[in-house]
Amino acid sequence: MEERIELSFKGFLTAVQTVKLYGKDHPILNKALKEAFKSITEALNDRPVFTIGIIGEEIAFEKEILFSLSNLSKDAVNYIKERGIEKITFNRGLELFELERFISLLSIPKDDIKESPQEKLYLMGVHNISVGKIGVSESKGEDSDKGHFDNLSLSLLSVLNQESIDGLSLRAAVEHIINNLAEQYQQLAKLNTLKRYDLGTFAHLISTSILSMYFSSKIGFPKDVILDIGLSALFHDIGKLYISRKIIRNPGKLSTLEFSLMESHTVLGSTLILQYVDTLGVMPAVVSFEHHLKYDLSGYPKLKFPRKPHIVSQIVSICDVYDALSERRSYKSDYPPNAIYNLMMRGKETTYNPFLLDKFFQLIGVWPIGSIVALGDKRVAVVVEENQDDIFSPIVKIIYPQKEEVLVDLKGNKDNLKIERFLNPWTEGKDFLIYLQS
Ligand SMILES: [Fe+2]
Ligand SMILES: [Fe+2]
Repeated sequence: MEERIELSFKGFLTAVQTVKLYGKDHPILNKALKEAFKSITEALNDRPVFTIGIIGEEIAFEKEILFSLSNLSKDAVNYIKERGIEKITFNRGLELFELERFISLLSIPKDDIKESPQEKLYLMGVHNISVGKIGVSESKGEDSDKGHFDNLSLSLLSVLNQESIDGLSLRAAVEHIINNLAEQYQQLAKLNTLKRYDLGTFAHLISTSILSMYFSSKIGFPKDVILDIGLSALFHDIGKLYISRKIIRNPGKLSTLEFSLMESHTVLGSTLILQYVDTLGVMPAVVSFEHHLKYDLSGYPKLKFPRKPHIVSQIVSICDVYDALSERRSYKSDYPPNAIYNLMMRGKETTYNPFLLDKFFQLIGVWPIGSIVALGDKRVAVVVEENQDDIFSPIVKIIYPQKEEVLVDLKGNKDNLKIERFLNPWTEGKDFLIYLQS
Protein backbone atom coordinates (compact mmCIF):
# COMPACT_ATOMS: atom_id res chain seq x y z
CA MET A 1 0.00 0.00 0.00
CA GLU A 2 1.30 3.40 -0.93
CA GLU A 3 1.79 5.22 2.32
CA ARG A 4 1.48 8.55 0.59
CA ILE A 5 -2.05 7.76 -0.48
CA GLU A 6 -3.05 6.74 3.01
CA LEU A 7 -1.44 9.87 4.40
CA SER A 8 -3.12 12.10 1.86
CA PHE A 9 -6.50 10.64 2.58
CA LYS A 10 -5.88 10.97 6.27
CA GLY A 11 -5.23 14.66 5.68
CA PHE A 12 -8.40 14.92 3.65
CA LEU A 13 -10.48 13.21 6.32
CA THR A 14 -9.07 15.53 8.96
CA ALA A 15 -10.25 18.48 6.87
CA VAL A 16 -13.69 16.87 6.57
CA GLN A 17 -13.79 16.29 10.30
CA THR A 18 -12.78 19.92 10.89
CA VAL A 19 -15.46 21.38 8.63
CA LYS A 20 -17.99 19.09 10.25
CA LEU A 21 -17.08 20.35 13.74
CA TYR A 22 -16.26 24.00 13.12
CA GLY A 23 -17.99 24.93 9.87
CA LYS A 24 -16.34 26.30 6.75
CA ASP A 25 -15.44 29.75 8.08
CA HIS A 26 -13.33 28.78 11.06
CA PRO A 27 -9.62 29.66 10.72
CA ILE A 28 -8.56 26.22 11.90
CA LEU A 29 -10.01 24.79 8.68
CA ASN A 30 -7.47 26.70 6.65
CA LYS A 31 -4.61 24.86 8.25
CA ALA A 32 -6.24 21.46 7.82
CA LEU A 33 -6.99 22.24 4.17
CA LYS A 34 -3.43 23.28 3.40
CA GLU A 35 -2.04 20.14 4.96
CA ALA A 36 -4.51 17.95 3.09
CA PHE A 37 -3.70 19.72 -0.15
CA LYS A 38 0.02 19.24 0.39
CA SER A 39 -0.27 15.51 1.02
CA ILE A 40 -2.67 14.95 -1.89
CA THR A 41 -0.44 16.77 -4.37
CA GLU A 42 2.53 14.79 -3.10
CA ALA A 43 0.67 11.53 -3.72
CA LEU A 44 -0.21 12.83 -7.20
CA ASN A 45 3.49 13.17 -7.95
CA ASP A 46 3.73 9.39 -8.16
CA ARG A 47 0.63 8.87 -10.25
CA PRO A 48 -1.59 11.08 -12.39
CA VAL A 49 -4.75 10.09 -10.59
CA PHE A 50 -5.95 8.06 -7.62
CA THR A 51 -9.31 6.96 -6.35
CA ILE A 52 -10.33 6.21 -2.82
CA GLY A 53 -13.49 4.22 -2.23
CA ILE A 54 -15.77 3.69 0.73
CA ILE A 55 -16.93 0.12 0.95
CA GLY A 56 -19.41 -0.51 3.72
CA GLU A 57 -17.75 1.41 6.51
CA GLU A 58 -14.24 0.94 5.27
CA ILE A 59 -11.93 2.97 3.11
CA ALA A 60 -10.33 1.20 0.20
CA PHE A 61 -7.49 1.97 -2.16
CA GLU A 62 -6.77 -0.47 -4.99
CA LYS A 63 -6.18 -3.85 -3.43
CA GLU A 64 -6.12 -2.65 0.15
CA ILE A 65 -8.79 -1.90 2.65
CA LEU A 66 -7.41 0.65 5.07
CA PHE A 67 -8.78 -0.88 8.23
CA SER A 68 -6.93 1.29 10.73
CA LEU A 69 -7.64 4.55 8.95
CA SER A 70 -11.28 3.50 8.62
CA ASN A 71 -11.47 2.87 12.33
CA LEU A 72 -9.92 6.22 13.16
CA SER A 73 -12.18 8.15 10.82
CA LYS A 74 -15.59 6.55 11.20
CA ASP A 75 -17.40 9.88 11.64
CA ALA A 76 -15.85 11.55 8.65
CA VAL A 77 -16.44 8.48 6.49
CA ASN A 78 -20.11 8.36 7.43
CA TYR A 79 -20.42 12.06 6.85
CA ILE A 80 -19.14 11.64 3.29
CA LYS A 81 -21.31 8.60 2.67
CA GLU A 82 -24.44 10.39 3.86
CA ARG A 83 -23.85 12.80 1.01
CA GLY A 84 -24.12 9.99 -1.51
CA ILE A 85 -20.37 9.79 -2.13
CA GLU A 86 -18.70 6.39 -2.20
CA LYS A 87 -15.62 7.16 -4.21
CA ILE A 88 -13.45 10.20 -4.64
CA THR A 89 -10.93 10.65 -7.44
CA PHE A 90 -8.17 13.24 -7.35
CA ASN A 91 -6.40 14.24 -10.56
CA ARG A 92 -2.94 15.65 -10.96
CA GLY A 93 -3.24 19.39 -11.45
CA LEU A 94 -5.48 19.72 -8.43
CA GLU A 95 -5.56 23.27 -7.07
CA LEU A 96 -6.07 24.42 -3.53
CA PHE A 97 -9.27 26.30 -4.38
CA GLU A 98 -10.75 23.07 -5.75
CA LEU A 99 -10.14 21.27 -2.52
CA GLU A 100 -11.59 24.25 -0.60
CA ARG A 101 -14.74 24.17 -2.70
CA PHE A 102 -15.12 20.44 -2.31
CA ILE A 103 -14.80 20.70 1.46
CA SER A 104 -17.28 23.58 1.52
CA LEU A 105 -19.67 21.46 -0.54
CA LEU A 106 -19.37 18.81 2.14
CA SER A 107 -20.27 21.38 4.79
CA ILE A 108 -23.72 21.97 3.27
CA PRO A 109 -26.45 20.08 5.18
CA LYS A 110 -27.09 16.97 3.11
CA ASP A 111 -30.76 17.71 2.49
CA ASP A 112 -29.97 21.15 1.05
CA ILE A 113 -28.07 19.80 -1.93
CA LYS A 114 -30.38 19.49 -4.89
CA GLU A 115 -27.96 18.30 -7.57
CA SER A 116 -25.83 15.18 -7.43
CA PRO A 117 -22.50 15.91 -5.71
CA GLN A 118 -20.68 15.42 -9.02
CA GLU A 119 -22.91 17.93 -10.82
CA LYS A 120 -22.51 20.38 -8.00
CA LEU A 121 -18.71 20.10 -8.13
CA TYR A 122 -18.81 20.74 -11.84
CA LEU A 123 -20.98 23.80 -11.37
CA MET A 124 -18.54 25.06 -8.76
CA GLY A 125 -15.72 24.89 -11.30
CA VAL A 126 -13.97 21.92 -9.71
CA HIS A 127 -12.50 19.73 -12.44
CA ASN A 128 -9.76 17.80 -10.71
CA ILE A 129 -11.95 16.05 -8.19
CA SER A 130 -14.71 13.69 -9.15
CA VAL A 131 -17.07 11.81 -6.90
CA GLY A 132 -19.67 9.13 -7.31
CA LYS A 133 -21.06 5.85 -6.22
CA ILE A 134 -19.43 2.47 -6.51
CA GLY A 135 -21.19 0.40 -9.11
CA VAL A 136 -23.35 -1.80 -6.95
CA SER A 137 -27.03 -2.40 -7.29
CA GLU A 138 -28.85 -0.35 -4.69
CA SER A 139 -31.77 -2.70 -4.29
CA LYS A 140 -32.44 -4.27 -0.94
CA GLY A 141 -32.60 -7.83 0.40
CA GLU A 142 -32.21 -10.68 -2.03
CA ASP A 143 -31.99 -8.29 -4.95
CA SER A 144 -29.07 -6.58 -3.34
CA ASP A 145 -27.36 -9.99 -3.14
CA LYS A 146 -28.04 -10.32 -6.81
CA GLY A 147 -26.42 -6.97 -7.53
CA HIS A 148 -23.33 -8.05 -5.64
CA PHE A 149 -23.23 -11.44 -7.33
CA ASP A 150 -23.52 -9.65 -10.66
CA ASN A 151 -20.46 -7.66 -9.71
CA LEU A 152 -18.53 -10.83 -8.92
CA SER A 153 -19.56 -12.28 -12.29
CA LEU A 154 -18.56 -9.07 -14.06
CA SER A 155 -15.10 -9.17 -12.54
CA LEU A 156 -14.68 -12.78 -13.60
CA LEU A 157 -15.79 -11.90 -17.08
CA SER A 158 -13.39 -8.97 -17.26
CA VAL A 159 -10.46 -11.20 -16.36
CA LEU A 160 -11.56 -13.70 -19.01
CA ASN A 161 -11.63 -10.87 -21.54
CA GLN A 162 -8.39 -9.52 -20.13
CA GLU A 163 -9.99 -6.16 -19.56
CA SER A 164 -9.44 -4.02 -16.51
CA ILE A 165 -11.60 -4.84 -13.51
CA ASP A 166 -13.52 -2.48 -11.31
CA GLY A 167 -11.61 -3.31 -8.16
CA LEU A 168 -13.78 -1.19 -5.90
CA SER A 169 -17.05 -2.79 -6.99
CA LEU A 170 -15.47 -6.21 -6.62
CA ARG A 171 -14.33 -5.42 -3.11
CA ALA A 172 -17.71 -3.96 -2.24
CA ALA A 173 -19.34 -7.19 -3.36
CA VAL A 174 -16.98 -9.39 -1.36
CA GLU A 175 -17.33 -7.10 1.62
CA HIS A 176 -21.12 -7.39 1.39
CA ILE A 177 -20.82 -11.16 1.55
CA ILE A 178 -18.42 -11.01 4.50
CA ASN A 179 -20.80 -8.79 6.41
CA ASN A 180 -23.62 -11.29 5.92
CA LEU A 181 -21.61 -14.49 5.99
CA ALA A 182 -23.82 -16.69 8.14
CA GLU A 183 -26.86 -15.75 6.12
CA GLN A 184 -25.05 -16.17 2.81
CA TYR A 185 -23.80 -19.59 3.81
CA GLN A 186 -27.23 -20.76 4.94
CA GLN A 187 -28.73 -19.56 1.71
CA LEU A 188 -26.06 -21.38 -0.22
CA ALA A 189 -26.51 -24.61 1.74
CA LYS A 190 -30.25 -24.44 1.33
CA LEU A 191 -30.10 -23.72 -2.35
CA ASN A 192 -27.59 -26.50 -2.83
CA THR A 193 -30.40 -28.72 -1.73
CA LEU A 194 -32.93 -27.15 -4.03
CA LYS A 195 -31.00 -26.10 -7.05
CA ARG A 196 -27.78 -24.30 -7.74
CA TYR A 197 -27.76 -20.59 -7.19
CA ASP A 198 -28.86 -18.62 -10.16
CA LEU A 199 -25.26 -17.66 -10.71
CA GLY A 200 -24.81 -18.97 -14.21
CA THR A 201 -21.42 -20.07 -15.47
CA PHE A 202 -19.67 -18.77 -12.42
CA ALA A 203 -21.75 -20.69 -9.89
CA HIS A 204 -18.89 -22.91 -8.77
CA LEU A 205 -16.51 -20.00 -8.31
CA ILE A 206 -18.94 -17.81 -6.43
CA SER A 207 -20.13 -20.53 -4.11
CA THR A 208 -16.58 -21.75 -3.44
CA SER A 209 -15.78 -18.17 -2.55
CA ILE A 210 -18.69 -17.88 -0.11
CA LEU A 211 -17.88 -21.25 1.42
CA SER A 212 -14.18 -20.40 1.83
CA MET A 213 -15.00 -17.12 3.53
CA TYR A 214 -17.52 -18.77 5.82
CA PHE A 215 -15.06 -21.47 6.78
CA SER A 216 -12.17 -19.08 7.36
CA SER A 217 -14.26 -16.69 9.42
CA LYS A 218 -15.32 -19.61 11.60
CA ILE A 219 -11.70 -20.62 12.15
CA GLY A 220 -11.09 -17.08 13.29
CA PHE A 221 -9.19 -15.32 10.55
CA PRO A 222 -9.39 -11.51 10.64
CA LYS A 223 -11.52 -9.70 8.12
CA ASP A 224 -8.71 -8.55 5.83
CA VAL A 225 -7.46 -12.12 5.47
CA ILE A 226 -10.99 -13.42 4.85
CA LEU A 227 -11.30 -10.89 2.07
CA ASP A 228 -8.12 -12.20 0.47
CA ILE A 229 -9.36 -15.76 0.82
CA GLY A 230 -12.68 -14.87 -0.80
CA LEU A 231 -10.97 -13.23 -3.76
CA SER A 232 -8.56 -16.13 -4.14
CA ALA A 233 -11.37 -18.69 -4.13
CA LEU A 234 -13.31 -16.60 -6.61
CA PHE A 235 -10.55 -16.80 -9.20
CA HIS A 236 -9.15 -20.26 -8.44
CA ASP A 237 -10.46 -21.91 -11.63
CA ILE A 238 -10.25 -18.90 -13.92
CA GLY A 239 -7.72 -20.77 -16.06
CA LYS A 240 -10.22 -23.57 -16.60
CA LEU A 241 -12.90 -21.16 -17.77
CA TYR A 242 -10.47 -19.38 -20.01
CA ILE A 243 -9.46 -22.60 -21.73
CA SER A 244 -12.92 -24.06 -22.06
CA ARG A 245 -14.15 -20.84 -23.61
CA LYS A 246 -11.32 -20.89 -26.09
CA ILE A 247 -12.14 -24.45 -27.06
CA ILE A 248 -15.79 -23.56 -27.55
CA ARG A 249 -14.90 -20.57 -29.71
CA ASN A 250 -12.16 -22.17 -31.80
CA PRO A 251 -12.93 -25.86 -32.07
CA GLY A 252 -10.08 -27.81 -33.55
CA LYS A 253 -7.67 -24.93 -33.38
CA LEU A 254 -5.90 -25.72 -30.16
CA SER A 255 -2.15 -25.70 -30.47
CA THR A 256 -0.07 -28.27 -28.62
CA LEU A 257 0.99 -25.57 -26.26
CA GLU A 258 -2.57 -24.61 -25.49
CA PHE A 259 -3.44 -28.21 -25.01
CA SER A 260 -0.72 -28.73 -22.47
CA LEU A 261 -1.90 -25.56 -20.76
CA MET A 262 -5.36 -27.03 -20.57
CA GLU A 263 -4.01 -29.86 -18.51
CA SER A 264 -2.76 -27.33 -16.03
CA HIS A 265 -5.38 -24.64 -15.76
CA THR A 266 -3.59 -23.86 -12.53
CA VAL A 267 -0.53 -22.39 -14.25
CA LEU A 268 -2.53 -20.57 -16.88
CA GLY A 269 -4.93 -19.20 -14.26
CA SER A 270 -2.16 -17.82 -12.13
CA THR A 271 -0.52 -16.20 -15.15
CA LEU A 272 -3.80 -14.57 -16.10
CA ILE A 273 -4.56 -13.33 -12.64
CA LEU A 274 -1.06 -12.04 -12.01
CA GLN A 275 -1.85 -9.27 -14.46
CA TYR A 276 -4.26 -7.93 -11.86
CA VAL A 277 -1.87 -7.94 -8.98
CA ASP A 278 -2.41 -4.20 -8.39
CA THR A 279 -6.10 -4.71 -7.82
CA LEU A 280 -6.24 -8.20 -6.37
CA GLY A 281 -2.92 -8.69 -4.63
CA VAL A 282 -0.82 -11.78 -5.08
CA MET A 283 -2.88 -14.34 -3.19
CA PRO A 284 -5.34 -15.24 -6.01
CA ALA A 285 -2.37 -16.11 -8.25
CA VAL A 286 -0.86 -18.27 -5.52
CA VAL A 287 -4.13 -20.14 -4.96
CA SER A 288 -4.83 -20.58 -8.64
CA PHE A 289 -1.38 -22.13 -8.98
CA GLU A 290 -1.58 -24.33 -5.90
CA HIS A 291 -5.15 -25.52 -5.51
CA HIS A 292 -4.53 -28.95 -7.06
CA LEU A 293 -1.10 -29.48 -5.48
CA LYS A 294 -2.56 -31.60 -2.67
CA TYR A 295 -1.29 -31.61 0.89
CA ASP A 296 1.34 -34.28 0.20
CA LEU A 297 2.27 -32.62 -3.11
CA SER A 298 1.12 -35.62 -5.14
CA GLY A 299 -1.10 -33.41 -7.32
CA TYR A 300 -0.19 -30.92 -10.03
CA PRO A 301 1.68 -28.90 -11.18
CA LYS A 302 4.87 -30.71 -10.28
CA LEU A 303 7.24 -28.46 -8.41
CA LYS A 304 10.97 -28.28 -8.93
CA PHE A 305 11.40 -27.17 -5.36
CA PRO A 306 8.59 -28.84 -3.46
CA ARG A 307 6.97 -26.97 -0.58
CA LYS A 308 3.64 -27.28 1.17
CA PRO A 309 0.85 -25.27 -0.43
CA HIS A 310 -0.02 -21.99 1.25
CA ILE A 311 -2.61 -22.29 4.02
CA VAL A 312 -5.05 -20.29 1.90
CA SER A 313 -4.62 -22.78 -0.95
CA GLN A 314 -5.25 -25.59 1.53
CA ILE A 315 -8.50 -23.96 2.63
CA VAL A 316 -9.67 -23.24 -0.90
CA SER A 317 -8.86 -26.77 -2.08
CA ILE A 318 -11.16 -28.26 0.59
CA CYS A 319 -13.99 -25.86 -0.25
CA ASP A 320 -13.39 -26.36 -3.98
CA VAL A 321 -13.84 -30.12 -3.85
CA TYR A 322 -16.71 -29.92 -1.39
CA ASP A 323 -18.55 -27.49 -3.62
CA ALA A 324 -17.90 -29.49 -6.78
CA LEU A 325 -19.25 -32.61 -5.10
CA SER A 326 -22.28 -30.77 -3.71
CA GLU A 327 -23.02 -29.51 -7.17
CA ARG A 328 -23.14 -33.09 -8.33
CA ARG A 329 -25.38 -33.94 -5.41
CA SER A 330 -28.06 -31.72 -6.84
CA TYR A 331 -28.47 -34.00 -9.83
CA LYS A 332 -27.29 -37.42 -8.82
CA SER A 333 -29.84 -39.44 -6.97
CA ASP A 334 -27.16 -41.62 -5.40
CA TYR A 335 -24.99 -38.90 -3.98
CA PRO A 336 -25.95 -38.20 -0.38
CA PRO A 337 -23.95 -35.70 1.69
CA ASN A 338 -22.47 -38.42 3.89
CA ALA A 339 -20.93 -39.89 0.72
CA ILE A 340 -19.16 -36.57 0.18
CA TYR A 341 -17.91 -36.74 3.73
CA ASN A 342 -16.64 -40.31 3.34
CA LEU A 343 -15.00 -39.55 0.04
CA MET A 344 -13.19 -36.46 1.29
CA MET A 345 -12.14 -38.16 4.51
CA ARG A 346 -10.27 -40.69 2.40
CA GLY A 347 -8.01 -37.84 1.32
CA LYS A 348 -7.22 -36.77 4.88
CA GLU A 349 -3.50 -36.23 5.25
CA THR A 350 -2.82 -37.01 1.57
CA THR A 351 -5.01 -34.57 -0.32
CA TYR A 352 -6.07 -32.32 2.55
CA ASN A 353 -4.53 -30.84 5.65
CA PRO A 354 -5.96 -33.16 8.34
CA PHE A 355 -6.56 -30.41 10.88
CA LEU A 356 -8.39 -28.21 8.39
CA LEU A 357 -10.47 -31.09 7.04
CA ASP A 358 -11.68 -32.11 10.51
CA LYS A 359 -12.41 -28.50 11.33
CA PHE A 360 -14.29 -28.08 8.07
CA PHE A 361 -16.72 -30.92 8.73
CA GLN A 362 -17.04 -29.88 12.33
CA LEU A 363 -18.38 -26.56 11.11
CA ILE A 364 -20.30 -27.64 8.03
CA GLY A 365 -21.47 -30.96 9.47
CA VAL A 366 -21.90 -34.19 7.58
CA TRP A 367 -25.49 -33.28 6.86
CA PRO A 368 -25.46 -29.63 5.82
CA ILE A 369 -28.16 -27.18 6.76
CA GLY A 370 -31.20 -27.64 4.53
CA SER A 371 -30.69 -31.39 3.96
CA ILE A 372 -33.91 -33.37 3.97
CA VAL A 373 -33.42 -36.56 5.93
CA ALA A 374 -35.41 -39.61 7.04
CA LEU A 375 -35.01 -40.39 10.74
CA GLY A 376 -34.84 -43.83 12.34
CA ASP A 377 -38.49 -43.57 13.40
CA LYS A 378 -39.57 -42.90 9.78
CA ARG A 379 -40.32 -39.24 10.35
CA VAL A 380 -38.90 -36.77 7.85
CA ALA A 381 -36.91 -33.77 9.00
CA VAL A 382 -34.84 -30.92 7.69
CA VAL A 383 -31.42 -30.05 9.14
CA VAL A 384 -31.40 -26.61 10.73
CA GLU A 385 -28.17 -26.45 12.72
CA GLU A 386 -24.92 -28.33 13.10
CA ASN A 387 -23.57 -29.81 16.32
CA GLN A 388 -19.87 -29.06 16.37
CA ASP A 389 -19.05 -31.84 18.79
CA ASP A 390 -21.06 -34.49 16.96
CA ILE A 391 -20.94 -33.88 13.25
CA PHE A 392 -23.26 -36.80 12.48
CA SER A 393 -26.07 -35.57 14.72
CA PRO A 394 -27.37 -32.14 13.78
CA ILE A 395 -30.39 -30.32 15.14
CA VAL A 396 -33.40 -30.96 12.94
CA LYS A 397 -36.96 -29.83 12.48
CA ILE A 398 -39.62 -32.48 11.87
CA ILE A 399 -41.69 -31.81 8.75
CA TYR A 400 -43.54 -35.10 8.21
CA PRO A 401 -45.98 -36.68 9.01
CA GLN A 402 -46.65 -33.48 10.83
CA LYS A 403 -44.80 -30.22 10.75
CA GLU A 404 -43.61 -29.71 14.31
CA GLU A 405 -42.40 -26.40 15.59
CA VAL A 406 -40.02 -27.91 18.14
CA LEU A 407 -36.45 -28.62 17.19
CA VAL A 408 -35.01 -32.06 17.83
CA ASP A 409 -31.39 -32.30 18.85
CA LEU A 410 -30.09 -35.60 17.52
CA LYS A 411 -26.99 -35.39 19.67
CA GLY A 412 -27.38 -37.79 22.58
CA ASN A 413 -31.19 -37.68 22.51
CA LYS A 414 -32.89 -40.15 24.80
CA ASP A 415 -34.66 -42.17 22.06
CA ASN A 416 -31.34 -42.67 20.32
CA LEU A 417 -32.90 -41.16 17.24
CA LYS A 418 -30.55 -40.98 14.27
CA ILE A 419 -30.56 -39.96 10.66
CA GLU A 420 -31.30 -43.04 8.60
CA ARG A 421 -30.75 -41.64 5.16
CA PHE A 422 -30.78 -38.62 2.94
CA LEU A 423 -33.80 -37.87 0.77
CA ASN A 424 -32.67 -36.54 -2.56
CA PRO A 425 -34.54 -33.34 -3.33
CA TRP A 426 -34.86 -34.37 -6.97
CA THR A 427 -36.58 -37.63 -6.25
CA GLU A 428 -37.88 -38.84 -2.89
CA GLY A 429 -37.34 -35.53 -1.17
CA LYS A 430 -39.23 -33.55 -3.78
CA ASP A 431 -42.54 -33.49 -1.89
CA PHE A 432 -40.88 -31.92 1.12
CA LEU A 433 -39.22 -29.03 -0.66
CA ILE A 434 -42.04 -26.65 0.22
CA TYR A 435 -40.90 -26.88 3.85
CA LEU A 436 -37.57 -25.37 2.93
CA GLN A 437 -39.02 -22.16 1.60
CA SER A 438 -39.77 -20.61 4.96
FE1 LIG B 1 -9.29 -26.32 -10.42
FE1 LIG C 1 -12.69 -25.66 -8.74
